[in-house]
Amino acid sequence: MHNISMDDIEMTLDVMKYALSRISAVNPELGSPKKEDDLKQLVGETITPKGIGGEKAFNLFKEVLIKATVSIDHPRHLAFVPASPTKAAVMFDLVTSASSIHGAYWMEGAGGIFCENEAMRWLVSLTGLPYGAFGVFTSGGTTANLSAMVAARERWRSGNAANHGKRGVIITSEGAHSSVKAMAKVIDADVFIIPAEEALTGNSLESQIQSMAEETQERVFAVVATAGTTNAGIIDDLEGIASVCNRYNIWYHVDAAYGGGALAADSVRHLFNGIEKADSITIDPHKWLFSPYDCGAVIYRNPEQAKKAHAQEGTYLEIFKDEGAHGFNPADYQIQLTRRVRGLPLWFSLAMHGTERYKQAIERGIELACIAADKIRQNPNVELVREPSLSCVLYRRKGWSFEDYKNWMYKNHQSGFALVAPTKWKKDGVYETVSRFCFINPDTTEDDIQAILDSMS
Ligand SMILES: Cc1ncc(COP(=O)(O)O)c(C=O)c1O
Repeated sequence: MHNISMDDIEMTLDVMKYALSRISAVNPELGSPKKEDDLKQLVGETITPKGIGGEKAFNLFKEVLIKATVSIDHPRHLAFVPASPTKAAVMFDLVTSASSIHGAYWMEGAGGIFCENEAMRWLVSLTGLPYGAFGVFTSGGTTANLSAMVAARERWRSGNAANHGKRGVIITSEGAHSSVKAMAKVIDADVFIIPAEEALTGNSLESQIQSMAEETQERVFAVVATAGTTNAGIIDDLEGIASVCNRYNIWYHVDAAYGGGALAADSVRHLFNGIEKADSITIDPHKWLFSPYDCGAVIYRNPEQAKKAHAQEGTYLEIFKDEGAHGFNPADYQIQLTRRVRGLPLWFSLAMHGTERYKQAIERGIELACIAADKIRQNPNVELVREPSLSCVLYRRKGWSFEDYKNWMYKNHQSGFALVAPTKWKKDGVYETVSRFCFINPDTTEDDIQAILDSMS
């Protein structure tokens, strides 16, 4: 399997040619899913005792399977949180795979981890956290949030032996991402959700804590604020929440998985004031920092606390901690052991383009949201649900029901024109179906926005 043959060389060239043409495609096919049975019918058996051959497998991928996926970087894919990796980062993702680097320990991954750490230093500098703060790249925001919660609980338990047998409590708000609740389940913690249609404030956090029975209050080990809610781009009152957490000695985590990229944007940086007081922060480079999947990051004010929670022990691992192998070991700061050096594509792209280009591309997302809002104000068929926040715009098509939004979404998607999904917005306790734009891709044009709005008439 390991000797290189002519077939391997041809296959490598074919793959590289395909990758190059996909990376340079300005308007990739949008793509849409098919039923599993239909896909099976189209491709037949692909895993067989003798193999179907690289050419056939690759053709099936190119002609059938890739078309049944959405090109997340399509300029008119404005649903959920899109992505728009730079060409440099995607190319270097190929290099990352080809280099076979094990990114758990410095002893094996030093050169790659060095690059990740250079990119991480820039990320940390955006947060304003004090000297000593540092982080690691994870598979995404969910695992970054989980890693931070595990570190928070460890501090709570190690600070007081009485907490060892207790089930911890996390306080967050209604706007928090689903992963916070899901990861609380993983670590068997309770979650208190503060109702907050807009930003969670320090005052409402304080009232929530004070309304809790003493026994419950003592079990609170973390507060999760959001800096850029997934639905609406709302940034919680980070200063206010920081001071409450400080007063009650509770770990303060900021989930900036989506919004974190905007820390680099001068026009909105002030909205994040207070993030520098966090104990931990999640930022996803695979969202608004133009990295390919998958690349999240968790940053700690005091990485030593995270190490106490995450460092794995085993006779086979002792050598990695030896003096002779000393260096930064990413495995010690998040839940994964064997890991891809997934920060490497970000490093290469940052090194190539410089941080100014990143700033400009992020500012463009914010600008596109303002442009969309202006177009919505001028269009009699639609209206803003709220002012845009970061790069999210919520708007309604007057007179439409959920069915209308759904049919419109499917029609646009199936024709290969655009993917813009409806969401729900709660106002005065009542949910309404609305449409939502989330801008990440700087190649989205004003004409794209206009054409999508026109498709609602
Ligand atoms: C605020 C926030 N946190 C966490 C996540 C989860 O990130 P991931 O999908 O990378 O696990 C998301 C994803 O959209 C998010 O928007």
